[in-house]
Amino acid sequence: MAFPDGLADFRSDTVTRPTPAMIEAMASAPVGDDVYHDDPTVNLLEEESASAVGKEAAVYVPTGTMGNQLSIMFHTNPGEEVLANAASHLRSIEAGAAQALSGVAFRTVDREGGQILPEDVDDAMEVAGFFPRIGLMTWENTHNLSGGRVIPYDLMKTTSARAREHGLAIHLDGARIWNAVAATGIDGPSWGEVTDTIQFCFSKGLGAPIGSIVCGSRDVIDEIRYLRERMGGGMRQVGVIAAAARVGLAERERLVEDHQLAQKLAVGMAERFPGSIDPVDVETNLVRIDFAAIGLPWEEVRDRLTSAAIKVNPPIRGGWRVCTHRDVDESDVERLFATLA
Ligand SMILES: Cc1ncc(COP(=O)(O)O)c(C=O)c1O
Repeated sequence: MAFPDGLADFRSDTVTRPTPAMIEAMASAPVGDDVYHDDPTVNLLEEESASAVGKEAAVYVPTGTMGNQLSIMFHTNPGEEVLANAASHLRSIEAGAAQALSGVAFRTVDREGGQILPEDVDDAMEVAGFFPRIGLMTWENTHNLSGGRVIPYDLMKTTSARAREHGLAIHLDGARIWNAVAATGIDGPSWGEVTDTIQFCFSKGLGAPIGSIVCGSRDVIDEIRYLRERMGGGMRQVGVIAAAARVGLAERERLVEDHQLAQKLAVGMAERFPGSIDPVDVETNLVRIDFAAIGLPWEEVRDRLTSAAIKVNPPIRGGWRVCTHRDVDESDVERLFATLA
């Protein structure tokens, strides 16, 4: 449903506002000083999150960026490289954090859909040791810059096994892993099994106002908790926000609704603007439209959307990302179609 002020905001799944159940949970959450492990709500959130992806332990962090970067910091030494798809969020859209904070560079794989094949790992490792050493391989699932594509489970399993044969650690940026679970029916622990650490966000499709989590073995998470302190991420009575994250996590199965709405949006766009999108490419909640097929200049579209109280980000290099989430519904999608007609 649109926001109470009538705004339909399709910019991102990060724009959601806390639900009444989240606000109620936040208001009544038992809290304590989390740096002393004294916050019962955070402790529960960490246990529930670890178990949701089949890991021993978890540590709550303020953002997905911090979760990814602490994981990179843990798994690598300065001067090493991280093997990643070239279009990874943790390489491209985290303001150079890995280079600045961990002193690493990236060995990139340039494939569609965020994919990395086993032979890419072999190729990279053939020269490692002479070229800079590779300390870590990373995945991102679902893959943001590829329009929310799911990296197929079997591919992740095979490539991760190859990476492990080469002695590489593996981190998954699972900011939207629950979208991958909703799209494939493959459960959290299966995705957890093919990675050593996994980061996921409560503040995207799950709808909580803030927070992410890193999950892994107990030893690894103890060390990442120490690094969180170093980076100023130790938080105190943070159960007030962890309470909303617990609600979002418990309701994660509702993400299929966002995917159904994204399909409707894609099918409607394809009918109205031939060539703008192939609905088959829309696997989750991110819809990538070829803006040129709409046949209007961006300024015209922007003005129409503004007067209809609709927000969508401008196209980037011709690709127009429209995102569904728990605060938009079918009537908002109809309003978007009517505005573009
Ligand atoms: C795939 C992916 N990873 C990580 C992040 C970073 O999350 P945060 O904005 O909480 O730092 C994002 C944010 O959009 C993302 O899309």
